[in-house]
Amino acid sequence: MLHVFLMDAPRNASKRGSVIDDIILVVQSNRLGQPITYRIRLAPSSFLLNHHHHQNTMSNTLPPLPYAYNALEPYINEQIMTLHHTKHHQTYVNALNAAEAAYSKASTPKERIALQAALKFNGGGHINHSLFWKNLAPSAAAGKGNGGVLKDGPLKSAIEQVWGSLDALKKEFNTATLGIQGSGWGWLGYNTQTKRLEIATTPNQDPLLSLVPIIGVDIWEHAFYLQYLNVKPDYLNAIWNVINFEEAEARLVEASGNSKL
Ligand SMILES: [Fe+2]
Repeated sequence: MLHVFLMDAPRNASKRGSVIDDIILVVQSNRLGQPITYRIRLAPSSFLLNHHHHQNTMSNTLPPLPYAYNALEPYINEQIMTLHHTKHHQTYVNALNAAEAAYSKASTPKERIALQAALKFNGGGHINHSLFWKNLAPSAAAGKGNGGVLKDGPLKSAIEQVWGSLDALKKEFNTATLGIQGSGWGWLGYNTQTKRLEIATTPNQDPLLSLVPIIGVDIWEHAFYLQYLNVKPDYLNAIWNVINFEEAEARLVEASGNSKL
């Protein structure tokens, strides 16, 4: 579904012969995507739909956390969350904007190809972290929220269909994710072909493209080292206490295109 917002529409647009300003369109591709800004220029004899790269690059901004930096304690501490959000994620945003700006100015295929790695790494970093923050919620076990609680519903049914239980999913997810060599991401994703949930991993900041991401877990050392040091299994066991299953279920329902899953 496309949500189209018309902004700054000139009030005199329908008057013949009047001076007409540009119309800015901000297209929200879907709840998983990033806003795309278009500028429609009203020329004397025709419409020109002109996709402005510059406008688009400026739309990459650090999304605010949907909770306080200490809200995920004791499972992820305030220091990690503060650095992770304000330093690491911000760096991906800045580098992505720089790469997109350079790409828009590149005039040859060779120049554009040279920017692919930076676009993939920083674009992936921005997409993955934007999802990650929404994947998390203050923990019910700590009496702070609904994090870690999987209620009866389409997500629980879909998990039990594949793994039998949430505990079995956690075990397989953690084993697969511990197998990542170096930095990467562990994923619970939805396969739109088989209409089933799957576990996947991606290296570096590669976004999950083969499945619709439902839950993503950051396995970079910056996500856990200040609290869990080298003991990655403890981080992976702890994070299930702050997984936002309500957000995950909303993603599953949207990905499946069926609110009655
Ligand atoms: Fe990260």
